[in-house]
Amino acid sequence: MTMKLFGGMLIGAGLFLGSNFAQAAGDPEAGKVKFYTCKGCHSSPGYTNAYPNYHVPKIGGQYEPYVVSSLKLYKEGQRKHGSMEGNAGSLTEQDMADIAAYVAKFESKRQEGPITGDPKAGKSLVDKCASCHGEDGNAPSPNFPRLAGQYESYLVKAIQDYQTGARNNAIMQSMVKDLSEEQIKNIAAYYASQKGLAVVGQD
Ligand code: HEC
Ligand code: HEC
Repeated sequence: MTMKLFGGMLIGAGLFLGSNFAQAAGDPEAGKVKFYTCKGCHSSPGYTNAYPNYHVPKIGGQYEPYVVSSLKLYKEGQRKHGSMEGNAGSLTEQDMADIAAYVAKFESKRQEGPITGDPKAGKSLVDKCASCHGEDGNAPSPNFPRLAGQYESYLVKAIQDYQTGARNNAIMQSMVKDLSEEQIKNIAAYYASQKGLAVVGQD
């Protein structure tokens, strides 16, 4: 518990992404080459993580500061995931910046991925999320991740991870702590059905 609170405060101090580090400028051409080892999972539409079963997140069109921040959290072991900790472990800050500059360039032309929740019910629950993530999940500021077009199953997993503390971010933990399983599913369905993120390398 102390660890959890401590971690939350550490991340809370950086509060908005990108405010706690000076980001190196990324080179998208170099990033494309460095993304080679990531393609098997992040460039395969509909690809799933086995245990627990959920889709590998779309990162095409994601904001650069969030991509860099996520990779750092995996590298530092603050965000737990076996293969991602391995994949981020050997990346330098410049590698992260280059990869982020590359993936940020993609844009989805259509919504893609299964929707099983009720997007309409979800829309009625996301007013308090809009200031950071945008009304449709296309965050107005690069300091917050885009959620629009993300896979529903991944969004459910991410929100549950904040609830259990597996992902340790003070703002997000307080935002989702009272949501029921059904509300989470409907919110995920709403964002997943908006146009936004893309699978890297696809259009
Ligand atoms: C074996 C499959 C696999 C490989 C290879 C892989 N990833 Fe991932 N990646 C995942 C999964 C699964 C997640 C979601 C993990 C979680 O729940 O935290 C993820 C999460 C991410 C995230 C966070 C997305 C978000 O919305 O928070 C980023 C950024 C990312 N990966 C970038 C990369 C980069 C860059 C590489 C190559 C250096 C890479 N990944 C290689 C499977 C993979
Ligand atoms: C005050 C700003 C703020 C508000 C309001 C907010 N969020 Fe977030 N959200 C963030 C930040 C910052 C992150 C990145 C945290 C991290 O690195 O784990 C995030 C991350 C997320 C993620 C994970 C994205 C990914 O790719 O893994 C989801 C899902 C999410 N928020 C959903 C919501 C929902 C649903 C609400 C409303 C109930 C909400 N957020 C309200 C700031 C906010």
